[in-house]
Amino acid sequence: MATEAFEKRAKTQVAIVGGGPSGLLLAQLLWLQDIESIIIERQTAAHVEGRIRAGVLEQGSVDVLTRAGVGERLAREGARHSGFYLAINGKRCPIALEALVDGQVTVYGQTEVTKDLMAACRAAGTEMHHAASEVALHDLETAKPALTFRQDGARWRIEADFIAGCDGFRGPSRQAIPAERRREFERVYPFGWLGILADVPPCQDELIYAHSDRGFALASMRSAKRSRYYIQCRADEPLEDWPDDRLWEELKRRLGPEIAPNITTGPALEKSIAPLRSFVCETMRFGRLFLAGDSAHIVPPTGAKGLNLALGDVHYLSTALAAWYRDGNASGIERYAEVALRRVWKAERFSWMLTALLHDFEDDDSFGKRMRLAELEYIFSSKAAQTSIAENYVGLPFENVLA
Ligand code: APR
Ligand code: PHB
Repeated sequence: MATEAFEKRAKTQVAIVGGGPSGLLLAQLLWLQDIESIIIERQTAAHVEGRIRAGVLEQGSVDVLTRAGVGERLAREGARHSGFYLAINGKRCPIALEALVDGQVTVYGQTEVTKDLMAACRAAGTEMHHAASEVALHDLETAKPALTFRQDGARWRIEADFIAGCDGFRGPSRQAIPAERRREFERVYPFGWLGILADVPPCQDELIYAHSDRGFALASMRSAKRSRYYIQCRADEPLEDWPDDRLWEELKRRLGPEIAPNITTGPALEKSIAPLRSFVCETMRFGRLFLAGDSAHIVPPTGAKGLNLALGDVHYLSTALAAWYRDGNASGIERYAEVALRRVWKAERFSWMLTALLHDFEDDDSFGKRMRLAELEYIFSSKAAQTSIAENYVGLPFENVLA
């Protein structure tokens, strides 16, 4: 407010709250259109670059990252996958992405995407404030919205034309939309994923999403030498209950006797338990604030959609802002929330469906369990069902946000 003294002030075109993949990609796409932005991030740069997350990119995500100028290492080191497997109690069914829908996905860790984007933003000279605290959003319904925060003991106020809320599920941006102007939809699942990253060769070339009587398991990878595995566990389970040996044994049992002998075990580079949640905030816009990525929606990781949806939002948002700055075309910023949410809900449906299909639910009765098995058997035997899964897994098309 006018009466409050701020030690440091700055002005920019787009102020970005959160320097994860969404915020970094947005800054980079705006920079390529000569639009200036400033990123304000709660964590240190080292923390952001070190976070271990998922690793499957849709072709649309690869395309947008390439347009942003970070496609080179991705093209060199990313592994193209033309299919994956579903499995029930060790019996595998290929979902042949290429044969069914002429599509592919690229396995390349989110950690690497983040490092590449961070390097690009540094090279572009984008102003980034890391380790910022007390971030607050102001005047969102005016033409001069602002952000205030603290960094290294100094108080800052940044005025902008627009604010992008790229601050993840727990950030302040979504909360800055008055409760009566947003509607939230949520499902919290009664289990989590226990993940292990290890420098051992993957058990096979393609990912395996496995349902077993003991619960879900996923065999994934980062490279020919690094594997990523997950098993369904209780959401409140202490990590100490899962020494590496127990985890490897359980994984082998869930993946079944055909795959187990191919699993190479080794010490965990990282091991953690993540809860599973579906969440959508309607709307994704309030005045001059636009939400993108995890700040607006969360999917359970079963469809590998979290990062892809975030990058998709940023594609829409950067297109909308570029049209506004280039020729005063406001149609994109007017349509952003509606267009982004249409795609978000379809990915929510797919992620929820795969989660329900592959996990064990404690409160399931015997009929529910049979239905799950019958549905899996149907998918195994039906090209139509496999095609629908493949179409969603490779990523649904983008609309023209400016139309
Ligand atoms: N002030 C500034 N930054 C904040 C604040 C805050 N109060 N709160 C959170 N942040 C930062 C976080 O530290 C994080 O770096 O916002 C960033 C949000 O990043 P992500 O949570 O990675 O979300 P997003 O960039 O939308 O990326 C989505 O990342 O979380 C995964 O599964 C998710 O794969 C998806 C992708
Ligand atoms: C991963 O490799 O971390 C991964 C892969 C696929 C998923 C989720 C996570 O669906």
